[in-house]
Amino acid sequence: MAETVRVCFVCLGNICRSPTADGVMVSLVEQAGLSDRIEVESAGTSAHHVGEGADRRSAQVARRRGYTLTSRSQQFVDSDWERFDYVLAMDRSNLRNLRRLPGSRSFSGTLVLFRDLDPDSPSGADTPDPYYGGPQGFDDVLDLCERGCSGLLDTIRADRGW
Ligand code: 4NP
Repeated sequence: MAETVRVCFVCLGNICRSPTADGVMVSLVEQAGLSDRIEVESAGTSAHHVGEGADRRSAQVARRRGYTLTSRSQQFVDSDWERFDYVLAMDRSNLRNLRRLPGSRSFSGTLVLFRDLDPDSPSGADTPDPYYGGPQGFDDVLDLCERGCSGLLDTIRADRGW
């Protein structure tokens, strides 16, 4: 049976940034014909929005640009380290919080800052939280997700020799 790679994008609430990355990645994976080999999820470091779908503003921008966001907010918990091969933190604060989970120490997969997968982003850059800002922030997040997800797909293919 073909090997399956499991990917999880992680932000704070799992209603804006990581659901956007999730929707973009699903679409890229489909276009690449790898849907049977790459599974995509997203999660939040907080539990504040658990059970909620994507923020209406994120969903609207995504729809306008050809993506469907289907996530239900879930919190990233310590046992999740065993479920994923690639964990992508949408900003440095979420990366720090992920690293504080004890299971991160024995995680054998890849834990990185999402934008570090984008060759055109400066090193150590955050995906800015659009929640309290205006509509442009949501479009900007989508741009960053397209670039980062493309880098992630390239990375997975290079790592696996696909
Ligand atoms: P996200 O955005 O982490 O990209 O899902 C946020 C969503 C909710 C809140 C903050 C950021 N909040 O404070 O409720």
